[in-house]
Amino acid sequence: MHRRHAGNGIRLDELLEAAADPIEVFRADWGTYQTAIRENYMFHRDISTAIRKLLDQLQGPLKVLDLGCGDASQIPEIFKPGQVAEYRGCDLSAQALDVAHSNLAHLGNRAELLCRDMLEVLRESPVDCYDIVYSSYALHHLPSEEKQAFLNECRRTLGADGILILVDIMREEGETLPEYFDRYIERMDADWTGFSDIERRSIQDHIRSCDYPESPSVLQSLARNAGLKKSRKLEKRTWHQAWCFMA
Ligand SMILES: C[S@@+](CC[C@H](N)C(=O)[O-])C[C@H]1O[C@@H](n2cnc3c(N)ncnc32)[C@H](O)[C@@H]1O
Repeated sequence: MHRRHAGNGIRLDELLEAAADPIEVFRADWGTYQTAIRENYMFHRDISTAIRKLLDQLQGPLKVLDLGCGDASQIPEIFKPGQVAEYRGCDLSAQALDVAHSNLAHLGNRAELLCRDMLEVLRESPVDCYDIVYSSYALHHLPSEEKQAFLNECRRTLGADGILILVDIMREEGETLPEYFDRYIERMDADWTGFSDIERRSIQDHIRSCDYPESPSVLQSLARNAGLKKSRKLEKRTWHQAWCFMA
């Protein structure tokens, strides 16, 4: 069979197959996502700066749980040196976790990485355990009922003064899912110029079939149901937002 290529050694049929599964796209090709981080297409830099401002006010050392940690590239950006007492990250992409090991080398044996489902890890986490639960661009992969379970479990495992920091794509209030897809993809075509048309197409197929972003008000309501008391927006760049929720 003739195999088509995306122009960077990756087979097009692999990219398109991967787009149909929420996690497979990250398992198959972490390099594409690293380009998105490097080019700041999802505003990782701006969002990490805002989170760093919040974390700078906290006394350490902190116990941190990172759900859907990917390559953990933002951890050295958001925590001051010496601020992390213990870090536990989980992700289903072994390829991303390989990169995470080097990004977290400075933490030595204070960092633990698990190739596991984040809801399972959350459910097994002890009550009142963590100072910070952090999750960046992973929650939108879960269906609604699992988002509630995710927030319930975050509340359960956070200590008395714990904080949930949630970074994610969020729909505008009143924006339907199809409207969001069309607008996000239109913006991507204009701005994500570091990708070939074929790469962009595969990312867009993944978005349309696997992403379920909620609006901030829906997430706030799920968080309230979970018993998280106060919430505050830390940053918003287009649909990319960071919020904190207090235990
Ligand atoms: C868009 S990446 C974000 C990575 C990183 N947190 C960041 O902000 O750059 C989403 C990550 O969530 C992971 N993921 C999605 N669903 C997951 C689940 N149920 N359990 C664990 N990891 C999951 C994917 O493998 C992927 O690495």
